[in-house]
This record gives sequence, structure tokens and C-alpha cells, in this order.
Amino acid sequence: MKLTVSIIKADVGSVGGHTKPSARMLDTVRGEVTKAIDNGLLIDSFVCHTGDDIAILMTHTNGEGSREVHQFAWQTFLAATSVAKTSGLYGAGQDLLVDAPSGNLRGAGPAVAELAFEHSLSGARPAESFMMFAADKCGPGAYNLPLYLAFADPMYCAGLMLPQMIKGFRFYIIDMDNTVGDSIIELDAPEDAYHIAALLRDNERFGIDRIVSRTYGEPGAAVSAQRLHSIAGKYTGKDDPVAILRNQGIFPAPEEIISPFAKAHFVGGDARGSHVMPLMPVPLNTPVTGIYCLPIVSCVGFSIDREGRFSESHTDFFDNPAWDEVRRRAQRKAIEMRSQGWSGAAMLPYSELEYGGFRDTVGTLLKRFRLRDERRPAVAD
Ligand code: 13P
Ligand code: MG
Ligand code: MG
Repeated sequence: MKLTVSIIKADVGSVGGHTKPSARMLDTVRGEVTKAIDNGLLIDSFVCHTGDDIAILMTHTNGEGSREVHQFAWQTFLAATSVAKTSGLYGAGQDLLVDAPSGNLRGAGPAVAELAFEHSLSGARPAESFMMFAADKCGPGAYNLPLYLAFADPMYCAGLMLPQMIKGFRFYIIDMDNTVGDSIIELDAPEDAYHIAALLRDNERFGIDRIVSRTYGEPGAAVSAQRLHSIAGKYTGKDDPVAILRNQGIFPAPEEIISPFAKAHFVGGDARGSHVMPLMPVPLNTPVTGIYCLPIVSCVGFSIDREGRFSESHTDFFDNPAWDEVRRRAQRKAIEMRSQGWSGAAMLPYSELEYGGFRDTVGTLLKRFRLRDERRPAVAD
């Protein structure tokens, strides 16, 4: 069967500030998901949260960008929004940016990542396993470095030296500044590795949209690489990206995919979406209660059976004592960065400040600048 794995995620309200959704909101989402499985729209689903974002992970046979699946997610987030409103929660409906999207939710607010593939548990994929990443308080470029290292650098993924991966992967990179449509360049690792790095170094403008196996033509990764402030013009949250990565066999193994996250690399986001702070790997369903927010990322793994159903158990990759060490280092890096407050590299550049109010403040001041008399250019008569 042609199976699609979809993640649709949104922040539609949170408890005590932008920390986490309420239990009632999550119950509401799970209730809607159960109905969608019962009525045959979805094969299976898993609901969790990372910080204040609810992720709905789904399998179905409707393909990528399915109107029915996207509308189901939208209606479900609307139902959770009304629970959030009733309870007076913060940011109720925050990510539902348009009134009524006609179909596909890409660009309407929620983050979307989808992979469709032939699912027969045979040939190159005798078993199907994958991981979902969900990050809060950061932009889509947060995945640029770890995914590059996992799919293009044998220092992190020794599997790249094996026959089934040695031809490398094709990176589909999106220019997130281009709001007319999805503007994509295709570059092949390893030949184009330096070109890929030249783009991916700019986390705010370029993001990985998709990664495909060059040997098998099988899609390996999809990321919700969209900048809502570019699309909506104004947005007071961060994009908080999700990603799906198939693993094992013709793709990197889980450890090859997660080990780059041990860097706790600095990303744009954090408080008011306007700072630069390290990305801390956390267990599923972690609220954002760090000293100054802190961008966080969770990772859950599933296998998929012949009918497209998730395994009855999941693996919570960052819920392991090995990651405590990384979390401590991330926190130390965060404290160091915070010690310089608003200065220089601690905050994002002017154009990336997610709270437009910062720009309004500077804009007002810019109008008050005057050229000094002694160096004022002579005005031509
Ligand atoms: P969210 O996008 O997670 O709502 O975060 C917004 C923010 O401004 C954090 O300070
Ligand atoms: Mg929020
Ligand atoms: Mg969020």
C-alpha cells in the first residue's frame, strides 16, 4: 500500500504561560483522533506535546497534503482551542493563523511534515521504523546541522560507508524567505556537501525540506521548513518545527541520527523567539520551564506493522540517563550565553526578532537620528 506518515503540530493554548497544553486539551485531541481512526480516515495515531505544542502523528493512505487529513487536524486544533479558551489559557488558538484554510495546512500556521512511501515490508524495507522529532522555542533551521551530520558526514553516521548508503542522499533545501511558493534546490551529498553546508549554515533562511536516498529513491526525512513570520508578516511565536525520519537499513540508524543532538548546538528562538540558545534534547511531554525558556527537542520512535499501524509501544529516545549529561552541558552553555543578556550574538539580528515590537522600538528611534552639522553633506542648490 502507499502509506503516508503525517505529523501536524500546533500551539493552540497553554497553561501558566507558554509552557504546555492542558490535560483536557490533550484529551480532546485524543478523542478526535480515536473518532478519525474509527471512521477510517486514519489508520493509526499518536498524540504528544513538546513544550506548548501538540503534535498529532498519523498514518493513513490519503497521501501527502490530503485535504481530509489536514482539515481533520485543523478541526481538532479548533476543538482544543475552544477548551483552552474556556479555561482562560495563554495563547488560545495562537497557531491557527487563517480563518478557514481551504485544504492543505502548510502556510496556515500548524507545522506539517509528511512522508509517503510504498509500504509492503519487503525489498529494501523488510521492516519499517521511523522517528518523529518535535522542537519548541526554535525555528526550522534547528534541524539543519544535526540532519546534515546524520545524512552526509561519516564522522556521525558510519553507515554512510555501507553499500546501501555509500551513494549518499539528495537534500531538498528550501529558501524560507521566498514566500511566493516553495522554492527548492536539490543538492547531492557527498559531491555537493560544501554547497549544502554553504546554505544550511544560515538557519534562518534555508532549511532542509526533505532528504531522499540516491540509491533507492526512497524518502528518508521530511521537515516542516516554513517560517511563519515570512508567511504571515507578523507572528509572535516561533515555528517550533517537526520532522519525520525513517531509520535503519537503507537509512541511518537511530544512534547515528540522534548523536549530533549531543552538541546542544545554538539555535535561534528561545524567549520571545528572539534569542540564540542551545537546543536541549528532552523526553516527550516536557513543559518549557527552563531558566530563560531554552529551545527543546523530543524524539519518539515507532515501528509500523503490515496494516500501517504503529507498534503498541514507542521509544522515547531522549528519556535516557545518557542525555542527562547533554542536558547539563546545554544548561551550562545557556547560562554562559545569558550572561551577556541582549548583547550581540545572544539575541537574533534585527530582521529575525520574532516579536515585531522590538523592531518598532528601534524604528521609532531611527526616526530621531540626525546628521551632525559639521559633517552634513552640502545640499545642491
Ligand atoms: P511559542 O512559539 O512556543 O509559543 O513561543 C513563543 C515565545 O515567544 C517564547 O517566549
Ligand atoms: Mg506558545
Ligand atoms: Mg511552541
